[in-house]
Amino acid sequence: MRPQRVQIVEMGPRDGLQNEPKASLEDRIALVNALGDSGLNHIETGSFVSPKWVPQMADADQLFARIQRHDGVVYSALTPNLKGFEAAIAAGADQVAVFASASESFSQKNINCSIIESIERFVPIMTAARERGIKVRGYVSCTLGCPYEGAIAPAKVAEVAKVLFESGCYEISLGDTIGTGTPDKAVAMVEAVAAQVPIGALALHFHDTYGQALANVAACLELGVATVDSAVAGLGGCPYATGASGNLATEDLVYMLNGMGLSHGVDLDKLVQVGNHISQRLGRSNGSKVGLALANRSGQ
Ligand code: HMG
Ligand code: MG
Repeated sequence: MRPQRVQIVEMGPRDGLQNEPKASLEDRIALVNALGDSGLNHIETGSFVSPKWVPQMADADQLFARIQRHDGVVYSALTPNLKGFEAAIAAGADQVAVFASASESFSQKNINCSIIESIERFVPIMTAARERGIKVRGYVSCTLGCPYEGAIAPAKVAEVAKVLFESGCYEISLGDTIGTGTPDKAVAMVEAVAAQVPIGALALHFHDTYGQALANVAACLELGVATVDSAVAGLGGCPYATGASGNLATEDLVYMLNGMGLSHGVDLDKLVQVGNHISQRLGRSNGSKVGLALANRSGQ
């Protein structure tokens, strides 16, 4: 059943900027601050990954030190291993996220190890997080297709999601990393996962490469999923999935939720300004249709 309230997890500063030409630290700080001002209450702020692998995410410690925190906002970080976890916590991240793939080939390209090795690497993170009372989110990538293997079986997605959930992740975010999914396939995948993991612990993380992300979200909300990842201005993509575009644009998501009468806590006008500003700073066109439409209307 459709939820009354949708929790938006903002990906712009992490999933977005990790695949844009390197943004300055000042622009990254300003983006996180402005997103907090717009009412978003969970912002994935950066990654504590190897700067050789993803230079755009370097200096996450300085980023966390310099953002202006809003009460009640979760500032989380992506962490691939214990080294990343320790650095994230030292920098003041409120939560961390680990990431595994439903595709063996993508796992090798993205984090240089097999799926099972990646899950073994998370065990010390889960232990350390439990000891310190830190919540851990889990991602499964390539849930609706892999750039190297093509179609991925929903049963494989469910298997990886179940392992992450049972290892202690409070929520599993299901990533259509390359954006090839369509609504019926997305629903079938979520249903397969929901047979293994409670639906209330699932989140949708759809990239918009083929313009399907919003349709996929609309279809999956009907199953009762109540958490959706999105990125302001549709920023980004994935450095290890060539051609993948950014996440579903947060402005487009908010506009649709408004139309459906579902609450979310975000001020759309403020968010549109944030999206237009970061797009200008990066010298890219705004990937949000709603952002463009509202900016044209108000002459921004
Ligand atoms: P590796 O080369 O196999 O690991 O990389 P290593 O342990 O041999 O370390 C190599 C170097 O990295 C060493 O430095 C380490 O100290 C350093 P050196 O001795 O060469 O100077 N290192 C680190 N530095 C900073 N922070 C760390 C860290 N760990 C090691 N945490 C590794 C393995 C996982 C580190 C690497 O593959 C990596 O950083 N990968 C990150 C890839 C990434 O961020 N991808 C994008 C995110 S996933 C995604 O976007 C999908 C998602 O959005 C969902 C979806 O859309 O589906 C989540
Ligand atoms: Mg992603």
